Amino acid sequence: MEQELMRIGVSLPDNLLTKFDGIIEKRGYSSRSEGIRDAIRSYITYYEWMSDVKGKRVGTITLIYEHTKRGLSNALTDIQHEYSSIIKSSIHVHLDHDNCLEVIILDGEGEDVKGVAESIMSLKGVKYVKLNTAPPAEKI
Ligand code: NI
Repeated sequence: MEQELMRIGVSLPDNLLTKFDGIIEKRGYSSRSEGIRDAIRSYITYYEWMSDVKGKRVGTITLIYEHTKRGLSNALTDIQHEYSSIIKSSIHVHLDHDNCLEVIILDGEGEDVKGVAESIMSLKGVKYVKLNTAPPAEKI
């Protein structure tokens, strides 16, 4: 059955919209709305995938952020201290004047591993976050 379409208004920064429009043009979407629907579906799929991260897990979180953003470095450090029992190591690379790349290596309960990723995602100034997890080695 055809779903009824709801109309929403969204405010976006100019550069984000320009990038998005560039992608939907390259990918051949017929309209911006179609691209946004697809992006929302991907977001939901990713969220549902994250909800499946349960039981013992090893994993990495890769993030890129603006270290110059006020309070952000401190907030990231606070999160990593809060979860220090499951964070085994981290690698930090200063990419350029403003941006840092960090890879955090975790080993713990899936719920907690996901908790770290979600806390990081919610911070302003974090441009990219990717969580990858696998069951512990003895279960593979
Ligand atoms: Ni740095």
